[in-house]
Amino acid sequence: MRGEQASVQHAETVEVLHGRIGHYSWVGIYFVEGDELALGPWKGPAATEHVRIPIGQGVCGAAVAIGRTEIVDDVNADPRYLACFPSTRSEIVVPIRYQDMVVAEIDIDSDSAAAFGDDDRSFLERVALLISPHCLVGWDTGGQAWEP
Ligand code: SME
Repeated sequence: MRGEQASVQHAETVEVLHGRIGHYSWVGIYFVEGDELALGPWKGPAATEHVRIPIGQGVCGAAVAIGRTEIVDDVNADPRYLACFPSTRSEIVVPIRYQDMVVAEIDIDSDSAAAFGDDDRSFLERVALLISPHCLVGWDTGGQAWEP
């Protein structure tokens, strides 16, 4: 998986977000690979079965397709939701852009309902901006030539 080549910054980012923020129960970074998302580093109590998600599917795939942060207050009420952990109640997905392209995303599950608000959105969008250049390590163009 291309995500395994992601830089150490990603592993540290998910570690810090998971370790320091109580309501971030599971934290992962997915990379865009052609028309799919591939799971890179993650931190949480258990692994997810969703290591590859087609763009457009799930909350993760929707955030990339729409190109904006998605907050789901009640995952059980959102038909897009792809279930990973029975304990998850809410979710935030934040696209990571490089120039105009979404190259990756931060996905966070919380065991609390409606855990994510505007503070989380603005904080995580800043984190996304900071780690965006590092995401090029994991990003796959899907066969397209690089166009700097
Ligand atoms: N719930 C996500 C799938 C990824 S897991 O949360 C780790 C979704 O609906 O896309």
